[in-house]
Amino acid sequence: MAEKQLRVTFQPHGRSVYVLPGTKVVEAAARAGLTIDTPCGGAGTCGKCRVHVTAGACPPTDAEREHLSDGDLDAGWRLACQSSICAESIIAVPESSIFADQHQILTEARAAAAEEVLPAVRKQYVELPEPALDDAQADLLRVERAIGPVTVGLDVLKELPGRLRDGGFRGTAVVADSELVDFEPGDTTGQCAGVAFDVGTTTIAAALLDLNTGEELAVASSVNPQVRYGDDVLSRIRRSGASADGGQELRQAAVGGLAELLARLCRDAGVEPGRVYEAAVAGNTTMEHLLCGLPVDALGEVPFVPVHGRALTLRARALGLNAHPRASAYVMPVIGGFVGGDVVAGMLATRLDAGETPAMLVDIGTNGEIVLAHDGKLWAASTAAGPAFEGARISCGMRAAAGAVEKVLFDGERLHCGVIGGEEPAGLCGSGLIDA
Ligand code: FES
Repeated sequence: MAEKQLRVTFQPHGRSVYVLPGTKVVEAAARAGLTIDTPCGGAGTCGKCRVHVTAGACPPTDAEREHLSDGDLDAGWRLACQSSICAESIIAVPESSIFADQHQILTEARAAAAEEVLPAVRKQYVELPEPALDDAQADLLRVERAIGPVTVGLDVLKELPGRLRDGGFRGTAVVADSELVDFEPGDTTGQCAGVAFDVGTTTIAAALLDLNTGEELAVASSVNPQVRYGDDVLSRIRRSGASADGGQELRQAAVGGLAELLARLCRDAGVEPGRVYEAAVAGNTTMEHLLCGLPVDALGEVPFVPVHGRALTLRARALGLNAHPRASAYVMPVIGGFVGGDVVAGMLATRLDAGETPAMLVDIGTNGEIVLAHDGKLWAASTAAGPAFEGARISCGMRAAAGAVEKVLFDGERLHCGVIGGEEPAGLCGSGLIDA
């Protein structure tokens, strides 16, 4: 017999959901569209996911007794990651427990164009002679006479005769590597864009680039929607293995985040999504695996083995991106379980191996990585940096959101603090901690 679902109402938002008894408050909130901040990944050790259960509170757990006073417990305060739903409930979620969407993350574009642009996609406008009695060559050969030999899929071949005849045998050939991916009406050589994503555990950053010039057309970023399933990679790995569709849920969350960012970039830059022909994705190993729908179980236990280490080339549509239908998505290769494609991208972008050595690349994110270049070799190591830099397990710690002290300066007499958003200080974020 099906179990009766319980109604849970979240205040002050007034959102209600029905969940099975035993569902954690944090999950019920996620279903109601509220992301509760879980700095320790729901381990019950930071005590920062406080919520006020004003009706239907369950008996407190040991972790809750440790972090909340008797008075608070009696008044109905609970930890969202520990407390379960056991009755119809009304739960007030304080602002401080909500995962702030306005984190201090990349928002500015770099105006300068890249020094060297070698995109995989090239466009060529052609004006071809029309078929005649003495020139009855196949349509594809006619195109190849102008642009050189290409490979081609059946879907493009089916469209090609119509495109050629409708456009009077003039148009733009779009070639990715050596594959003809489209033949567009008119001269569209000036419209050729690509998108790059950096999929972090906490943040996704994206840039839309002009593939002709390398110029950044727009930059956008957002919180990785997977944060509602846990803050660090290990909680995501646990979540993925917790149910049959856990991995799929996480994948959908990331795919939705990427799609939303691409739509925003195209809107901001005034670029038609169909003119985006290439995507490049870099992320830590777990993020890349989850995004591609690959199993992550082995990444959660020693010796942290990834499914693959290679670069993957997929259709962008397979990652849910509303780009050109035959745009490809290049997913960066990973080095190991905790040294991922984002580090590889960083090494390539800085040409770490080609400059003066010894040199170091340091990426301090939720997971921290260091690569040392010396004597013609590259050495990489990583560790979980996030809990501290995201404010977890620090009594006054918080993420880099409004109210976070991000700078601390001592002028010899007095301490000065820089607070994000110029608001009343609410806690210390990573950069503030380092300064302090
Ligand atoms: Fe709940 Fe840390 S105690 S997230």
